[in-house]
Amino acid sequence: MGSALAIDGGTAVVPSGTVRTWPEFTDSDRAAVLRVFANNQLHTNAAPFAQELQAKWAEYCGVKHCLVTNGGTGALHIALAAAGVRAGDEVITSAYSYWATAASILHQNAIPVFADVDPQTTTIDPARIEEMITDQTTAILPVDIHGVPADMDAVRAVAQKHGLLVVSDCCQAHGAAYKGQRVGGLADISGFSLNRSKNLTGGEGGLVTTSSDEHQRRCEAILRFQNVEDDEGTVAFSGLGFNYRPHEFVNALALSQLERLPTLNERRKEMAGYLTQSLTELAGVAGPRVPEYADPVYFSYLWEARPDELGLDVPAGTLRKGLCRALAAEGVPARPAQPRPVPGEGVFQAKLGYGRGCPWRCHAREVTYRVEDYPSTLKVCTSRAFLGGVYPPNDLNLMTHYVEAFAKVLGQIDRVLELAEEE
Ligand SMILES: Cc1ncc(COP(=O)(O)O)c(C=O)c1O
Repeated sequence: MGSALAIDGGTAVVPSGTVRTWPEFTDSDRAAVLRVFANNQLHTNAAPFAQELQAKWAEYCGVKHCLVTNGGTGALHIALAAAGVRAGDEVITSAYSYWATAASILHQNAIPVFADVDPQTTTIDPARIEEMITDQTTAILPVDIHGVPADMDAVRAVAQKHGLLVVSDCCQAHGAAYKGQRVGGLADISGFSLNRSKNLTGGEGGLVTTSSDEHQRRCEAILRFQNVEDDEGTVAFSGLGFNYRPHEFVNALALSQLERLPTLNERRKEMAGYLTQSLTELAGVAGPRVPEYADPVYFSYLWEARPDELGLDVPAGTLRKGLCRALAAEGVPARPAQPRPVPGEGVFQAKLGYGRGCPWRCHAREVTYRVEDYPSTLKVCTSRAFLGGVYPPNDLNLMTHYVEAFAKVLGQIDRVLELAEEE
């Protein structure tokens, strides 16, 4: 019998206040934002920080063009609109993602069709994509979830076979690589988020990348109401556009953070690598499985509850619940991750879009959303949990405490299972 669990009055392994929050700000970040006042230009893609961020991000991703936007969801919406997705078209995306991915499809008045994931990588299963394609499908939207790139060669092969465009959701994967190539340059058009939680952050904001001149031209127009100026400077509106203009405070902060992105990503990888190796040595839990093709950037660190390794005949969700409760009391921020496949969310169950049944009514075929059609996503949703704090300014020292806490609670598994049953 080990020392008493913190939930039962024992001493917590991680003292309260130890886990620090993301992001970390430096004097350079502060100075960069203050320089915006000196420039006296606050917005548009022509402003100096926007221009510099666009040039640097395009170079970083190995693409020809980049546009900054005011959010990741907007970046994806712009990309889908520029890819030619029309009202009522079907776009195939992953059942496992933050729901903003599917929202960006609805924002184009198009219809999300979900494909199940590969349970190992938790990214979209290319074999499932093909069976979802209909004559209404116009694009595929894979997601680099938790910083792990989707299997892009396989996704692109399906797209090519069926004449579809690929728009990539890289919102959680700044700097991740697929077979040695950075995400952002692996699809026809890609979108990133710069929101507060992301590996590269400006507080809010987004980025669109492409190497196609034509897609860049369309993205640029859609981002700013599709207004075009003639030689005399007269503005005309040439089509439906939106306001996804960026803000210079955001651009300045993101640019300053970009200087440190490689170092910060390396620190995430070091912490994640240590955790995964250490959890392998503990029966009942495991870290994320990294596909051979991927160099992930651990936007979030997920671990898995494995009751079979402990000879327990309980669902993974039960063990996860007990472990999360016990770990949280030990000062380890552990909590269940995505609760259900995205098609199980109320918006899809009730088909709440633009009202009057749109976008689903702009469409000949009835699309149904049944969670049981996504067995691998369901399995991932019930067995995995987030581990907070696996990012700078936290360090390996904190990770050793996390491992100590896992070992402590796993050593008292009967009590952990009782906790799972308590209200
Ligand atoms: C996978 C994924 N897609 C899209 C988004 C949308 O990004 P934003 O919050 O910047 O609109 C996010 C971030 O929240 C995300 O994690």
